[in-house]
Amino acid sequence: MSTVVIVGTQWGDEGKGKITDYLAREADFVVRYQGGSNAGHTVVVDGDEYRLHLIPSGILYEDKTCVIGNGVVVEPGVLCAELDYLHGKKRRIGSLRISDCAHLVMPYHRCLDEIAEESRGADKIGTTGRGIGPAYMDKAARVGLRVGDLLDPEGFRRQLQRNLERVNPLLQKMYNRPGFDPDELAAEYLGYAEQLRPYIADTSLVIDEAIRQGKNVLFEGAQGTLLDNDHGTYPFVTSSHPVAGGACIGAGVGPTKIDKVIGVAKAYTSRVGDGPFPTELFDDVGAWIREQGQEYGTTTGRPRRCGWLDAVILRYAARLSGLSGLAVTRLDTLSGLPTLKICTGYLYKGERLTEFPHRLEVLRECQPVYEEMPGWQEDISHLNSYEALPETAKRYLQRIVELVGVPIALISIGRERAQTIGLEDAF
Ligand code: IMO
Ligand code: MG
Repeated sequence: MSTVVIVGTQWGDEGKGKITDYLAREADFVVRYQGGSNAGHTVVVDGDEYRLHLIPSGILYEDKTCVIGNGVVVEPGVLCAELDYLHGKKRRIGSLRISDCAHLVMPYHRCLDEIAEESRGADKIGTTGRGIGPAYMDKAARVGLRVGDLLDPEGFRRQLQRNLERVNPLLQKMYNRPGFDPDELAAEYLGYAEQLRPYIADTSLVIDEAIRQGKNVLFEGAQGTLLDNDHGTYPFVTSSHPVAGGACIGAGVGPTKIDKVIGVAKAYTSRVGDGPFPTELFDDVGAWIREQGQEYGTTTGRPRRCGWLDAVILRYAARLSGLSGLAVTRLDTLSGLPTLKICTGYLYKGERLTEFPHRLEVLRECQPVYEEMPGWQEDISHLNSYEALPETAKRYLQRIVELVGVPIALISIGRERAQTIGLEDAF
């Protein structure tokens, strides 16, 4: 029996979907525990690309059970469309369970997300516009509607009516926008209920039974450590907890039941959305990495900001999530660069910092301290063992291990399942 949590160690888009899909071979259950359709997980199987936002990346195996945990915020329209999209592909897919405690993203959440961004002006967060923040706000304010409420039409209508009595005047009077019609919204959402009903379950119980039966359970994080609501670059963060502890809350599993935590780290750094990013490159190298790695958002299509690998961030992620192993992705993207740089610390007002600072006004002024290393010119995307990698690539990886203090469990050298080098058994 084994349970493994997969977390993003940077600002999201580290390749968690690909790593989850790869490790899911050995898993029986794959569980999403936080975030919502702000996530964009791309998985390539037999040359076909699948883009998933809500359904766990394990769904592409027909013998797996995928779970959307209570910590996820679910926009049912997106979920139904994703199910239709998967059913429309020829591939047979796994089964799905959705927590009755997961909160629903409502159309007014999207609207409020947009309004909040507009009102922030130049300080905008650069959210994905999927209503994630406002949905989690309603959850914390104890007025949210949950997946389980879809099964009680009367109760659903009552709570929706109450919410719109609060939200509509805000939209209409404060922001000069149309309000939402409670009957129309209820009809739309209760329509989704018909499609989703067979999947709704007490998923904490489902996962607990699986663990008791000795099954392998994979917890698939969305976003990344620096987007964590508590530990990230606040306020330029998301509204959930992508760190490993989030898996316990968001799936309803006790911490003693987690065996391993794999941190997914890109071999460089990228960020989509606003906020400080010390190793960001504004030169040709940054643009080169963006084109080479096709760094454009899966959810919003925005170009991602790119920069050198930052070991300060990875050490921070290792501490916050208790990482037991690293999965280094996109190593192939760096092929062709004559020199590589790794940030080992920051210079702040002449002082050397080795730990990630929490205060943004400090982080904004941090200058990265780099260590330079020779790159490699060879195409490495077809290699199938660590030994076959160029010496310079091995040295780059070894340096990461030394700086972060966590062993490498996996290396990804391409988008396909087969383009993965496993260094230890994950389960
Ligand atoms: P995956 O799972 C990268 C970023 C947004 C914005 C901030 C807040 O694919 O790694 P939100 O819509 O969540 O309120 O936006 O978080 N963000 C992501 N960046 N990958 C993601 O997910 C992200 N999900 C949210 O760009 O900066
Ligand atoms: Mg993504």
